[in-house]
Amino acid sequence: MALQLGDVAPDFTAESTEGTIHFYDYLGDSWGILFSHPKDFTPVCTTELGEVARLKGEFDKRNTKVLGISVDDVESHRAWAGDIADATGHALNYPLLGDPDHKVSDLYGMIHPNASDTLTVRSVFIIGPDKKVKLTITYPASTGRNFQEILRVLDSLQLTAKHSVSTPVNWREGEDVIIATAIGDEEAKERFPKGFRTVKPYLRYTPQPDR
Ligand code: BEZ
Repeated sequence: MALQLGDVAPDFTAESTEGTIHFYDYLGDSWGILFSHPKDFTPVCTTELGEVARLKGEFDKRNTKVLGISVDDVESHRAWAGDIADATGHALNYPLLGDPDHKVSDLYGMIHPNASDTLTVRSVFIIGPDKKVKLTITYPASTGRNFQEILRVLDSLQLTAKHSVSTPVNWREGEDVIIATAIGDEEAKERFPKGFRTVKPYLRYTPQPDR
C-alpha cells in the first residue's frame, strides 16, 4: 500500500552525487524533503532541480534537508548537473540519488505503472524530525512542481507542530491562523494573549503565535 500521512518514512542506503546516503543519518534531527524526477536530461526536471538549488537557503532556514532522486544512475546525474547549472544558473547544491534498480522508488511508491512502468512520477514527501511522513504530493511528469507551495506547506507544518493552530486557505507565513477547536474560549484567552476574533464558534482567528 502507498505510504500515507503518519507512516514512518522508510530508511535506505543509496548512492548519490554527493556519495553514499544513509537516509536517516542524512536527515539527522532535521525535517526532510524527498522528491522524485522521472528521468535525467529532460526539460521540466532540469528547471525543477535548478529551482531547488536556488531555494536551498530557504530550506536551510527551515532546518530542512532536501534530497532529489531520479531512476538514472549517479554517473548520468553528474553529466546532467552541468546542464542544470548552464540552463538555470544554479548548480546542484544538494544530493541527487541514483536509483537504476528502483530500490528507493519502489520503497516510496514513486512509480505508478498506469502512468509509466519505468519512470517515476513527480512525488514529494515531507518528513518530520520524528521520521514520519507529514505530506505527500504527486504531480504528473508533464507538470513542474511549485516549490514556493512546498515552502508554504513546510511553514504551516512547522508552525502547527508547535502550536494548537491550523492554517486557513492560501495562508502564508505571518498571516492569521485558526485556533484548534479542541481549545475552549477561556483556554484560548490564556494561550493566545494577542487575542482572537470569532467568526463562528468553530472558526477563531489569532495572529501567528511565534511572531
Ligand atoms: C520532463 O522533465 O520534461 C519530462 C520527463 C519525463 C517525461 C515527460 C517530461
